[in-house]
Amino acid sequence: MRILSGIQPSGAFHLGNYFGMMRKMIEYQENHELFCFIANLHAMTTVSDGQYLAEQTLDAATTFIALGLDPERCTFWVQSDVKEVSLLTWILTNFTPLGLLERCHSFKDKVAKGISPHSGLFIYPVLMAADILLYQSEKVPVGKDQKQHLEVSRDIALKFNNEYGQVFQIPEPEINEDVAVVPGIDGQKMSKSYNNTIEIFTEKKQLKKKVMSIVTDSKTVEEPKDPDNCNLFALYNLFHQQEEIDGLRKKYLAGGLGYGEVKKQLLEDIWEYFAPYREKKKELMENKDKVREILKEGAEKARTIAVETMKQVSQKVGITY
Ligand code: ADP
Ligand code: TRP
Repeated sequence: MRILSGIQPSGAFHLGNYFGMMRKMIEYQENHELFCFIANLHAMTTVSDGQYLAEQTLDAATTFIALGLDPERCTFWVQSDVKEVSLLTWILTNFTPLGLLERCHSFKDKVAKGISPHSGLFIYPVLMAADILLYQSEKVPVGKDQKQHLEVSRDIALKFNNEYGQVFQIPEPEINEDVAVVPGIDGQKMSKSYNNTIEIFTEKKQLKKKVMSIVTDSKTVEEPKDPDNCNLFALYNLFHQQEEIDGLRKKYLAGGLGYGEVKKQLLEDIWEYFAPYREKKKELMENKDKVREILKEGAEKARTIAVETMKQVSQKVGITY
């Protein structure tokens, strides 16, 4: 089964990205044909500082490898290194009814927030369709927020196939219902855009500051507490086995436990959990050329499939002569 997904390098990766997407992708490489890429072209819709985007792209790739993605066992590349994706995007725009894009929530939300949208934001889902269809992906694991974009990809593929015969594999979404949304330090969904993240790789002092600022209610140490409505408890769960989770639940309900104590534990948990990966990342960052080389090789591997697809597409639409 060919599985494909991408992640935008629009800022440092956080616990939500890791538990919601990256860890799952790393597991897939064991038993599936995995295609995974850094979506730097998508990030351009929100990042306009070129130097920052370039740095974040390399950092994102390094982070993924440090966390266990193995470029020997999957195909891992930077989106813009396979130029065919831009050509396919243009071709697909001609199979994308305007109304399909006008209905996309992510676009409508931005407009509702008063952001003056450029066309890049509008055709974002077409670029995403090109990512998916170029590599003939069978399954695409995404968060709930991307479900509609997957439907757009399927619609475009069906429209194209309808016109020209079977060219594209119709991708199936895999919506991760079982992965709970990781809360940020303010209790909303952890997200780069809400400024409430706990980064995977950060200095311990900075990590401590973040963990200590996790918002809780103002119950005293003695008072019993509600584990089911507590961000801190939800974050603790990510790092512990069921038995320990049950233990903490009991302590919450009994009272006599302060949030400060749980925060101290969580700080150590996060620090310990990522310790080996932190070392690996440091090593890789000292050898950036090696990472660049891995990414170039990944792009070559991805391109072999892309070129095959584009041969067919170009012939069908008549841009070969
Ligand atoms: P952000 O909201 O920080 O910009 P993205 O939208 O780029 O994050 O998400 C990248 C991936 O990480 C997606 O697959 C998304 O589902 C996952 N993800 C992001 N935030 C969370 C979260 N708080 N909980 C679970 N998964 C998340
Ligand atoms: N839009 C996705 C996100 O923000 C990232 C992405 C780009 C993607 N292209 C993709 C995900 C193709 C899956 C398949 O999370």
